[in-house]
Amino acid sequence: VPGNVPSDAPFETVRWQGSLDDGCLVLLDQTKLPLEQVEVVCHDVDLVAEAIETLMVRGAPAIGVAAAYGVVLGVRPAGDSDRGSFQQRLQAVIDQLGSTRPTAVNLFRSLRRLERVAAACGPGATAREVVGKLFTEACAIHAEDQWMCREIGRHGAELLEDGMGVLTHCNAGALATGGRGTALAVVLAAHESGKRLHVYVDETRPLLQGSRLTAWELTRYGIDSTVLCDSAAASLMRRGRVQAVVVGADRIAGNGDTANKVGTYGLALAAEAHGVPFYVAAPSSTFDLSLADGASIPIEERASEEITHFQGRQVAAPGVRAYNPAFDVTPARLIRAIISERGRIEPVSAERIADILG
Ligand code: MRU
Repeated sequence: VPGNVPSDAPFETVRWQGSLDDGCLVLLDQTKLPLEQVEVVCHDVDLVAEAIETLMVRGAPAIGVAAAYGVVLGVRPAGDSDRGSFQQRLQAVIDQLGSTRPTAVNLFRSLRRLERVAAACGPGATAREVVGKLFTEACAIHAEDQWMCREIGRHGAELLEDGMGVLTHCNAGALATGGRGTALAVVLAAHESGKRLHVYVDETRPLLQGSRLTAWELTRYGIDSTVLCDSAAASLMRRGRVQAVVVGADRIAGNGDTANKVGTYGLALAAEAHGVPFYVAAPSSTFDLSLADGASIPIEERASEEITHFQGRQVAAPGVRAYNPAFDVTPARLIRAIISERGRIEPVSAERIADILG
């Protein structure tokens, strides 16, 4: 329902508030969690772009949803212009949002969808009518994401058994999507079906999406959880405490190579060494079938200060350089299955991916 996508999560990460004409995009500011629950109210595209860049809203599907509403905010003021000027404005807004973060493909998928909707409007349509169509599409992207999260949970929950220790990295929960999450939707669905799980949460250096966000979500759901330094994950596996690893994804190439938060690749190697199944949970909107493999996935490099400083204070030796890729690529061979809304992709191969998503 345009303007009123019913929430499927226990809190709202991304929501449109009000009507198309005078409504706004409301985001839960994830830079403030877990200590403060503050909303950011966006009336223009500049703030949406800033929110994506600074990780007030983050996680591949949530970025895709926020960007779709961001386009609407960006073109709404041009509702009275002629179609030529409107098209120029639309292109500028798409370029602006498209230059915020390079890795999560959901962002570009949303922008392409809106571009196509505008292109499909006949020459007789007014700019205001096009804005209405874009808004309907943004709401559809949001609603689809909610549905995909729920289905991922359903397909993935079967993989988890009562009593298991499950390790996750970064945040792939409701905070990272327009719905109830991907990797955490799997955990949540298993929990709701009565399975008792213990979730080990990698803190996720350097921005602590695990300890700040995932642990916050799990605590709210009443799911047992323990936070650990990323570097403690391998020894935890060696001690036999982890029976499955489940993570999200930012972009999955045609052969299943998966970009996700930096540290995921090391986790997959450790899981292989200890015979622990490694699962990726992701909607079809996170696949980029235009890429044959992960080598050409663009990896975002973020500011050195995220590593050299902590909460505004310098912690690294002055003058030292920092290497700060936000993501890494896990080769398909290390992934036991990809859990998508259309079912489980197992084994992870180009053929199987094409079968399920084609
Ligand atoms: O830099 P972030 O916090 O946007 O990175 C997010 C991740 O890597 C998530 O694991 C991924 O987007 C999956 S979210 C369902």
